[in-house]
Amino acid sequence: MGESRESLEHDVLIALPKAELHAHIEGTLEPALMFEMARRNGVDLPYPDEASVRRAYNFEDLQSFLDVYYAACKVLVTDDDFYDLTLEYLRRAATQGVRHAEIFFDPQTHTDRGVEFATVVNGITSALVEGERQLGVTSRLILCFLRHLSAEAAMETLETALPHRDAIIAVGLDSSEKDNPPVKFRDVYDRARAEGFLAVAHAGEEGPPEYIWQALELLEVQRIDHGLKCTDDEGLVDRLVSEQIPLTVCPFSNVKLRVVPELRQHNVAQMLRRGLCVTINSDDPSYFGGYVGDNYVGTARALDLSRDEMFRVARNSFSASFLPEADKQRHLRAVDDYAAKIGAS
Ligand code: HPA
Ligand code: ZN
Repeated sequence: MGESRESLEHDVLIALPKAELHAHIEGTLEPALMFEMARRNGVDLPYPDEASVRRAYNFEDLQSFLDVYYAACKVLVTDDDFYDLTLEYLRRAATQGVRHAEIFFDPQTHTDRGVEFATVVNGITSALVEGERQLGVTSRLILCFLRHLSAEAAMETLETALPHRDAIIAVGLDSSEKDNPPVKFRDVYDRARAEGFLAVAHAGEEGPPEYIWQALELLEVQRIDHGLKCTDDEGLVDRLVSEQIPLTVCPFSNVKLRVVPELRQHNVAQMLRRGLCVTINSDDPSYFGGYVGDNYVGTARALDLSRDEMFRVARNSFSASFLPEADKQRHLRAVDDYAAKIGAS
């Protein structure tokens, strides 16, 4: 493929209308904003400058990333910090074709340091409203429980969230997967669903297919976050295909956290061709080398995915979203119109 052909494909995939369904708002904190917040809040960072922060983004596995990510979260203190963080993410996402974003936040990372739950939610929510006004990007918020902490702590977090339920569409589960199976949070999810929340969970990122089964059967999730280990269990793949359970795959993340050795060996092409409802997302874009459009471009190139396959990924992102049916249909028509205009590769 020549230089100009590559840059054409780049532009086609960046502008492709898409939804992002797997982005942790704390993982969108760019080093420049991190330093600005550290300065204005008087927080000491363990790095002298932005370049040394970036050098620290060399991870062995999920845990080595989480250690850096949680440390950086200490600069987030005020409503304005959460507002600025969220609006900056939406601005970047909008330049990469994002029309709708379903964003994770980790309240326990903040409340355990004395930041009020209301500060976190109000700051994020104000930015989501402003982002829709300025950029036309719609959004939803997903509250994630930290799975390395106890089920009791998750239940307390859920109770703290109840007065803010209108701001939150679903609950999720993130942080260290190994030895923290979904079953640990069964009661919390039962309660969350009874309170009217939808449910998702990270499963099968580093953990085994069994954790995906548990997320489906015990937590009754609508989507699986990551889920790439499903291909180790043919019976599980059959179930995910027949029910079209969406998987929010994050290819750059999987390479940076060494879940897969390199992008060319990622199983997302195999997953798509097997009929799974695959979406492509950024996870923690500031840490993993790109936003969602960059993930589309890098993945399509590395695995030689066709335009039609990438149009399907974009369609999946809207049909897997928690938008009302009429909005889904409007976005799906926008993808179809775009595909008709651009044509197949
Ligand atoms: N996995 C689990 N927890 C996380 C991640 C992830 O990729 N990113 C932020 N928290
Ligand atoms: Zn994630």
